[in-house]
Amino acid sequence: MASKLSKTMPFNSSATLFFIACLFLAINYIRQLHNEFQKATYPESFRIPGWFDVVAPYIRDEKINIGLVNIDGVHVDNIDLELKRRANMVKVHFNPVVDYIRWKDFFPVWINEKYPSKCPEIQMPRFEDYHELDVILARVPCSRDDEGRDVLRLQVNLVVANLLVRSRRKNNSSVFAVFTGSCTPMWEIFRCDDLLWHEGNYWVYKPELTRLQQKVLMPVGTCQLAPAILEQGQKIWRKYNNTSQSHTLPQPREAYVTVLHSSENYVCGAIALAQSIMQTNTTKDLVLLADVDSISQYSLEGLREAGWKIKPIRRIRSSHSERHAYNEYNYSKLRIWQLKNYDKVMFIDSDLIVLKNIDKFFNYPQLSAVRNHEHIFNSGLMLIEPSTCTFKTLMKKRFAVASYNGGDQGFLNEIFPWWHLLPAKLNQFKYFDDINDQLHEIPHDMYAVHYFGIKPWTCYQDYDCNWDRLKNQIYASDMAHEKWWNVYKDMPKKLKKYCSLTSEMDARIQMNRAKAKNATFIDGHWKIKVKDPRRLSILSIS
Ligand SMILES: *[C@@H]1O[C@H](CO)[C@@H](O)[C@H](O)[C@H]1NC(C)=O
Ligand SMILES: *[C@@H]1O[C@H](CO)[C@@H](O)[C@H](O)[C@H]1NC(C)=O
Ligand SMILES: *[C@@H]1O[C@H](CO)[C@@H](O)[C@H](O)[C@H]1NC(C)=O
Ligand SMILES: *[C@@H]1O[C@H](CO)[C@@H](O)[C@H](O)[C@H]1NC(C)=O
Ligand SMILES: *[C@@H]1O[C@H](CO)[C@@H](O)[C@H](O)[C@H]1NC(C)=O
Ligand SMILES: *[C@@H]1O[C@H](CO)[C@@H](O)[C@H](O)[C@H]1NC(C)=O
Repeated sequence: MASKLSKTMPFNSSATLFFIACLFLAINYIRQLHNEFQKATYPESFRIPGWFDVVAPYIRDEKINIGLVNIDGVHVDNIDLELKRRANMVKVHFNPVVDYIRWKDFFPVWINEKYPSKCPEIQMPRFEDYHELDVILARVPCSRDDEGRDVLRLQVNLVVANLLVRSRRKNNSSVFAVFTGSCTPMWEIFRCDDLLWHEGNYWVYKPELTRLQQKVLMPVGTCQLAPAILEQGQKIWRKYNNTSQSHTLPQPREAYVTVLHSSENYVCGAIALAQSIMQTNTTKDLVLLADVDSISQYSLEGLREAGWKIKPIRRIRSSHSERHAYNEYNYSKLRIWQLKNYDKVMFIDSDLIVLKNIDKFFNYPQLSAVRNHEHIFNSGLMLIEPSTCTFKTLMKKRFAVASYNGGDQGFLNEIFPWWHLLPAKLNQFKYFDDINDQLHEIPHDMYAVHYFGIKPWTCYQDYDCNWDRLKNQIYASDMAHEKWWNVYKDMPKKLKKYCSLTSEMDARIQMNRAKAKNATFIDGHWKIKVKDPRRLSILSIS
């Protein structure tokens, strides 16, 4: 029979394929039926969820207290029976933030920092009703608008963080956050370092509570400064720590950090920055990340002499900048997250100087900065918390995430949409866009000045050469200029030579002065008789 069949219908390759296909379909159909049957008998929620096995070994008590956040009644009823036997579950009640409150209400264009300001209300649960939780199980809502900038998502994350921080575990055991849902928890609040387990739509965190407390103490957005953190920060944390399970804290490891890459133009700036910080009697370390290929041994000597501990790095190319653009390697700054010997880092660009001690601002958590414009922070001065997994995440995301200006600032603002506002005086821009303001003075009580425009060390000491060019006059300020040179004056002689005037700088200034004179600029800076002694060394060379 078979031989007859094979004669009349010979097996060719297409028939074989057909048979294999049929077989596959049949097997798949049977498997599907089996799955349906299994689901009907044992719904997924009737099995001990994976996250429970992760958390349970840490908890010493018989019963585990689980708080449910943004998980409605239906979900609660469906929760596994075995889980119900081993856990007390309580739904956490709070009113979702109203629809018309948007992200920009928490991150306004501007606030008057001189007067106490208020943020829109973001309701929290009555914490006293839920103070003995071991686990907070929360469903993360997906963004209503811009990815990462969603008010309801922020609220749910803050509710979880606040519950964790306030939980009073009698037996000194840990507390956990378990997130579920198709959207991710906010990594600005729940650090990747604390992620214990992740599978599918489940994330289990065992948060370091001290760090979480610092974030919970911050205002919910840049709608407010956080004066309490500054003046009473240490005290508040000690109180919090007393009520939670953490113990006496070790002395935090903290450092001021700057980075030099691609050219030596900022070596003098970095030397002056170090000197200015040392002049404030800081107790923190000073660390400079130096691109091994672009900073010479001679410069490194001066930088070390100025107070920096040098850490060699390889620069990182910006993913979204033009070749040979001014910001081509600005992503090198991201290496500050690799400084894992420090708990916190105050990053400062080399074109700033510090005028008053700012050590107390280490009380702020990641990421704290000064507003640049609208909801964007300026990355010239930032308080961050180094972390290897954060650095890896930044490296992974640097191609996928756009940057509005091709530099690190645009990138970091997309990555950290939830950030904390530092007082503007901490990163006072040398920038004057009010045409009625002729004097271009900066306030007297600033902590640090950010030298926009032509850098002071490439001008004469006598006046700010930004005055000599019309398009630079928004950056011109003799008062700010003088502050920089005051730092220079107190520097040892052997460091001053790193700030010498080159003949190129001199030629450029002369040319701009001549143009300003020809155009008879009314500010009259071009009339000033220059006395800068650094010119003498040029004359003696030539
Ligand atoms: C504390 O933990 C121990 C086991 O380490 C347990 O026997 C005891 O019941 C726990 N106490 C409370 C109050 O939960
Ligand atoms: C809590 O646990 C830590 C170690 O994890 C221990 O040093 C401390 O004494 C414990 N405190 C109490 C009150 O059990
Ligand atoms: C911690 O709490 C104990 C009693 O609960 C209190 O005596 C102590 O002063 C508190 N410590 C701090 C630093 O607040
Ligand atoms: C730094 O310390 C020195 C010596 O103790 C003191 O003279 C100086 O005033 C201090 N500077 C500041 C800014 O506190
Ligand atoms: C990039 O770096 C350069 C020099 O280090 C700096 O002048 C510039 O402001 C940076 N740009 C951005 C967009 O961060
Ligand atoms: C000076 O200004 C005049 C016009 O006002 C212009 O023709 C001339 O080229 C300028 N000279 C220089 C050196 O800029």
